[in-house]
Amino acid sequence: MGRFLDSDFRRKLQSPDKLIDRSGIKEGMHVLEVGCGSGAFTTFVARTVGIKGEVYALDIQPGMLMQLKEKLSRPENRDIRNIKLIKGDAHNLPFDDNSFDLVYAITVIQEIPDKNKVLKEIKRVLKPGGILAVTEFLPDPDYPLKSTTIRLGEEAGLILDKVEGNLWHYTVRFKTKKK
Ligand SMILES: C[S@@+](CC[C@H](N)C(=O)[O-])C[C@H]1O[C@@H](n2cnc3c(N)ncnc32)[C@H](O)[C@@H]1O
Repeated sequence: MGRFLDSDFRRKLQSPDKLIDRSGIKEGMHVLEVGCGSGAFTTFVARTVGIKGEVYALDIQPGMLMQLKEKLSRPENRDIRNIKLIKGDAHNLPFDDNSFDLVYAITVIQEIPDKNKVLKEIKRVLKPGGILAVTEFLPDPDYPLKSTTIRLGEEAGLILDKVEGNLWHYTVRFKTKKK
């Protein structure tokens, strides 16, 4: 799985443009990626939010963040200055309440022992009316059905907004309550 996760082959199957569109990521947004891994999609998101936006890329494994750091040092990525790497555990996000317009997680939630706690943490750091986009992909050994992802989000108090994609590759979008 390791090599596949950050490969052009994967990005052919799971197009970054489609993922960004389905997630609702837009220019100027302040975004948190939970469980960024080596950043298979992080540079694409950074270019979409642009210089007025920001991407906080958080992972629990320092080795993953080192790989993303190395990727960002490559000549083709030197223009990207809006990614902040954060070593942290999604169970206790190191951010204030109401910090982000959007949080996204790609093939991460099922790896997490206390999913309800993490989803509540994500809800806490989202602004009112903010978006959580959860993307799942079938080759992932932990792949959950859409109904499981929807149930987990709703149990954490998030409001279902939109479900896009097919059986093997989908994004579920939730919103937090507007003020
Ligand atoms: C299957 S990988 C997916 C990586 C990336 N999202 C992708 O799609 O290529 C899952 C990632 O979640 C991270 N992760 C697992 N539990 C975590 C936690 N409690 N807090 C933060 N990151 C976590 C892992 O370290 C790993 O990098």
